Amino acid sequence: MAEQPVLSIKNLKTYFYLEGQVIKAVDGVSLDVYKGRITAIVGGSGSGKSVMSLSILNLIDDPGKIIDGEIWLNGVNLRDLQEKQLMKIRGKEISMIFQEPTSSMNPVFKVKSHFFEVIRTHSKQAISNKDAVSLFKDVLARVGLKNADQILESYSFELSGGMCQRVMVAMGLLAQSQVLIADEPTSSLDLTTQAAILEELLHLKNRGMAIVLITHDLGVVAQMADDVYVLKDGKIVDSGTVYDVFESPKHEYTKALLAAIF
Ligand SMILES: Nc1ncnc2c1ncn2[C@@H]1O[C@H](COP(=O)(O)OP(=O)(O)O)[C@@H](O)[C@H]1O
Ligand SMILES: [Mg+2]
Repeated sequence: MAEQPVLSIKNLKTYFYLEGQVIKAVDGVSLDVYKGRITAIVGGSGSGKSVMSLSILNLIDDPGKIIDGEIWLNGVNLRDLQEKQLMKIRGKEISMIFQEPTSSMNPVFKVKSHFFEVIRTHSKQAISNKDAVSLFKDVLARVGLKNADQILESYSFELSGGMCQRVMVAMGLLAQSQVLIADEPTSSLDLTTQAAILEELLHLKNRGMAIVLITHDLGVVAQMADDVYVLKDGKIVDSGTVYDVFESPKHEYTKALLAAIF
């Protein structure tokens, strides 16, 4: 029997209600995410990738609203949960690397505090501060950040966008969540750092994590993903294993995307 998806989204719709118009940012998206696999969501700018990922954790603010759909995590529909219950899911069951890393860390706390929070959420047994800090240094080194002492003592606004993004990835590595959603995690990084981070995502996948990798880069999809969903104007226009979608794309949009890289 086929394995059950860890995360299953059904008919998700997130609309923005602006004066005089409705933007259907996510318009009936369904997708399945499996343990030990990388599921890529690919699409051009404005296709709804970020709104979709924020919707999974119910992080949509006015004038946006999730108007329909189900978000199943291990048999629980997250849309039935109260905010208090969702707070326990965020970070613990599902961690997220945001596309806008500078705005996603609370500016009141140092990087160190954010890291301790991740450890507190995930460790099954108590860990000494000294051991925790050496763990922090290890994950920072893995994303190519060597001046760990200085970074841990910094606030997010003191870091460059690229450094912040790497700090977010390091937090993702630290978290032992079942699902990691990475929204364009390498978009503002040089190629060497990008390769290092993609390598780390592959390690997490091999340890059994389910990874949702959001990207506009089909090269990254080809290199990294097992399954792929092509998003256009808030709708899935193509999906399947990477092999199937690349071999026999169904939608003209996917064909055009592929023609642009091969
Ligand atoms: N806060 C917002 N208010 C109004 N429209 C928004 C807001 N956030 C996103 N959108 C719209 O939703 C659509 C999808 O955006 P987004 O998910 O950020 O695209 P992507 O991540 O694929 O580039 C776009 O048309 C965007 O303009
Ligand atoms: Mg985006």
